[in-house]
Amino acid sequence: MTSYTVSIEPIGVDIQCRDDQAVLDACLREGIWLPHACTHGTCGTCKAEILDGEVDFGDASPYALLESERAEGAALICVAKPRSDVTIEGDVDAEEGVDVHPVRDYSGMIESVSDVTPTVRRVIIAVDEPVAFNPGQYVLLRTPSGDERPYSIASTPQDSSRIELHIKLSEGGLCTAGWVFKNLAGGDRVAFSGPYGRFSFRPLREEPMLLLAGGTGLAPMKSMIRHIAETGAEHEVVLYHGVATVEELYDREWFAELDAEHDWFSYRPAVSREEWQGRTGRVPTLLAQDYPKAAGNVAYICGSPSMVADTMKALMNARLFPRNIYREDFFDSADRANGNNVVRSPLIKR
Ligand SMILES: Cc1cc2nc3c(=O)[nH]c(=O)nc-3n(C[C@H](O)[C@H](O)[C@H](O)COP(=O)(O)OP(=O)(O)OC[C@H]3O[C@@H](n4cnc5c(N)ncnc54)[C@H](O)[C@@H]3O)c2cc1C
Ligand code: FES
Repeated sequence: MTSYTVSIEPIGVDIQCRDDQAVLDACLREGIWLPHACTHGTCGTCKAEILDGEVDFGDASPYALLESERAEGAALICVAKPRSDVTIEGDVDAEEGVDVHPVRDYSGMIESVSDVTPTVRRVIIAVDEPVAFNPGQYVLLRTPSGDERPYSIASTPQDSSRIELHIKLSEGGLCTAGWVFKNLAGGDRVAFSGPYGRFSFRPLREEPMLLLAGGTGLAPMKSMIRHIAETGAEHEVVLYHGVATVEELYDREWFAELDAEHDWFSYRPAVSREEWQGRTGRVPTLLAQDYPKAAGNVAYICGSPSMVADTMKALMNARLFPRNIYREDFFDSADRANGNNVVRSPLIKR
């Protein structure tokens, strides 16, 4: 194994990166926070210019990194590995009030695996040592085959002995159908790394928070809401949770109770494909009804790429613009293969 020097401009910092390691991974482990979202070569957020030296471009989606961009010296550093000493131009991303937690490897034991809906499992990992993260961030869970999959953390940094994940079954999926929904059980040892992502609670933003979740996009929202409740941070929060059928509305009692107990929190569950006692419709539709004007709020959207895209549109129609919107797209291997969800606007926060 060879190690190369990666120089990061314009900050002029040199770090070491192994030839089997992605450049972004080496940076994040040194606490150098460069823009990234999916960490799987799918979204294009981590695109950086290679000013000098050679890289192996890795498994970059051709939709996220065009052939012409490659030829001009750009790379997706979440999958690019050094083949010589390299210099990159990186948009080092520090934001006031958002802590930087260097990425680390962690291990733990499965404390429980429970069905919260017919297609969603809550996985609790008792961690060997506390995991430092910002509410909203995610981990890369290592599967028995050695592949990694991103999952948002639903627990809070205050609960340092365990992390909670909400995992939805993907038919034919390697991690879910092939492991989590097949034979993962209490007592199993697991490994993961983290924390990753820029989708996290912004404590210094004082505007009312609109949390817009589809399916297991609820996980990072639960982390943020619990964090606010546990720390007594003063934020007004409205949570929309959109699902197709009532049985998919998990953790409903917990959120309803919190809503009943606190003025700062409002819970708005939404079911799109069947009538029930509550509101029927997709999150973007209900949002448009409730917020003809959304300016003055800060929004966090998380769910499937199509849910995120439609909700973005609804917010922008309601005059809430990208600088006030944070998003996490739950890309999977199918999105990677068909490339229809690359976000091209640098204005959109991830
Ligand atoms: C930042 C982030 C956070 C996430 N957080 C969560 C979370 O908290 N909870 C959650 O449930 N999910 C989350 N996801 C999604 C999750 O990481 C996985 O993508 C999902 O669980 C599927 O993993 P899998 O290995 O089971 O499926 P995969 O093996 O990755 O396959 C997914 C689907 O694509 C199909 N497929 C595989 N390869 C191809 C191909 N080449 N062409 C076409 N189709 C293909 C499969 O048949 C399957 O239907 C997150 C994703 C991201 C990017
Ligand atoms: S973070 Fe590199 S392509 Fe998404």
